Amino acid sequence: MNVVILGSGKGTNALAVIKASQQDQLANANIVGIFTDNPDAEILKIASQNDIVNDFLSPGFKKSIIEKNEENNWIQKISDLNPDLIVLAGFMRILSSNFINHFQNRIINLHPSLLPSFQGLNAIEQAFNKNVKITGCTVHWVNERVDDGEIIAQAPVRIMNDDELPLVRQKVQAAEHILLPWVIRDLALGTTPFPQ
Ligand code: GAR
Repeated sequence: MNVVILGSGKGTNALAVIKASQQDQLANANIVGIFTDNPDAEILKIASQNDIVNDFLSPGFKKSIIEKNEENNWIQKISDLNPDLIVLAGFMRILSSNFINHFQNRIINLHPSLLPSFQGLNAIEQAFNKNVKITGCTVHWVNERVDDGEIIAQAPVRIMNDDELPLVRQKVQAAEHILLPWVIRDLALGTTPFPQ
């Protein structure tokens, strides 16, 4: 199962997936490429250090989407790697319906809250500021609405009364680093089915 990862930042989740793969924990899932919309993203270095094809692809000038005139390049570069699964791991752009239709039922997203609570940006802060006692992370199928597709798996994280925001962030990320490789493994094994 060919896996392409899209990310915009630090790439700690990509690294967790790479490590799981190197430890033979992902069944037949292979990470075949990592792309980013951010030329300075740490995720590029992580990919290079682990001999994974990687590239910065220009998203254009708009902030939260891939511009139409750049989108074909993204679709082409990703398609060239014959992906069975595309993993959004900290990818901070909203995908168009054209993009999603191209890879229909093959895109999953990692989100740092227990969806449907706290959709959108700064989900960890949103949960923290609401004083919830349990938050967590979610992996879900991507549809045309942001953070809305069918939930595949979730992991809970407790927020203790004296937890500060950086600690909550660390806890959620630690949970993500376990959850995401598991989901990829289950998809590779077929224990989690792809939508028809
Ligand atoms: C992760 O916490 C992920 O859940 C979040 O970005 C972080 C990326 O970290 N994604 C979103 O907020 C998407 N809405 P990483 O680059 O270290 O993997």
